[in-house]
Amino acid sequence: MSSLYNVFFGFKENPFNLTPDPVFLYRSHQHEEALSNLIYGVQSRKGFIALTGEVGTGKTTLLECLRDFLTQNRIDFATIFNSRLTVAEFFEMVNYDLDLRCNPPSKTQVLLALNEVLLHNTRNGRTTVLIVDESQNLSWEVLEEIRLLGNLENRAGKLLQIIMAGQPEFDRILDDPTYRQLKQRVALRCTLRPFAESETHQYIHSRLATAGATNPALLIPDHVVSEIHVRTQGIPRIINSVADNLLLTAFAMAEKQVTLEMLDEVSNDLRLEWGAQRVSRERIFDDQSYPRKVAGRRE
Ligand SMILES: Nc1ncnc2c1ncn2[C@@H]1O[C@H](COP(=O)(O)OP(=O)(O)O)[C@@H](O)[C@H]1O
Ligand SMILES: [Mg+2]
Repeated sequence: MSSLYNVFFGFKENPFNLTPDPVFLYRSHQHEEALSNLIYGVQSRKGFIALTGEVGTGKTTLLECLRDFLTQNRIDFATIFNSRLTVAEFFEMVNYDLDLRCNPPSKTQVLLALNEVLLHNTRNGRTTVLIVDESQNLSWEVLEEIRLLGNLENRAGKLLQIIMAGQPEFDRILDDPTYRQLKQRVALRCTLRPFAESETHQYIHSRLATAGATNPALLIPDHVVSEIHVRTQGIPRIINSVADNLLLTAFAMAEKQVTLEMLDEVSNDLRLEWGAQRVSRERIFDDQSYPRKVAGRRE
């Protein structure tokens, strides 16, 4: 539905889509650092790398960027996106993604074939990667299989690089004494946090510019962005739904600029809840510096 407004605002595509599309990647300091860690970890055969962060902070987006990098560099990889799977299903996925052609894809067959591929790739100076998203949902049994796969190594390093992304519960799993063997193997651990206010500004501008907007600050003025930051607590996914709904509202009213009134309406529709108290509407109009002050106080 949101594509309705693309022509009206002159966008090539919808700026605030919820898909984890690498084309729209805004390289905040922490996203940049996390992505370099993932790539460095794979290239230097570090074995386990954990990437954690709240829902909507960009984990799946970074995994997509990593997959693009792996594809460009012809590095074999398997991806487990559905983490509520059994051990048998896990090996079926690995068999399918790495094209191991085991039939039937029983655990023993897949392990034998995988071992061969890992050694073959290593002999040719290449590595192999397993990417797991939503790792907080994995059963103990599947986590145990993954841990064992992470043990395969030769003198050049680990044969399989394992990237595990998950919500903060995954951090807690790793810190649980039951999983200490897994935790000990994690070579790199990175965490994504919500944006700071200045990053929310850059993020919104960057997505609008990528979509083809010629003057992002005219479309969503700075004081509205500051208030979006407060209400979304700097979480990219929520910023996207708010901004998308704002643009739709402006479009419906044939306006080329979004306003705080529109933001109020959208916040109600989306049932947004944010911690600090709002300053009354009168003050907004009395005090030009309102948005900066409010945001500053809440940081
Ligand atoms: N650094 C970023 N640059 C561009 N878009 C981002 C960034 N971080 C998050 N997003 C966007 O926010 C939304 C949620 O991101 P996602 O990767 O699905 O989060 P997570 O997997 O952590 O729940 C997606 O629409 C995604 O495109
Ligand atoms: Mg995700």
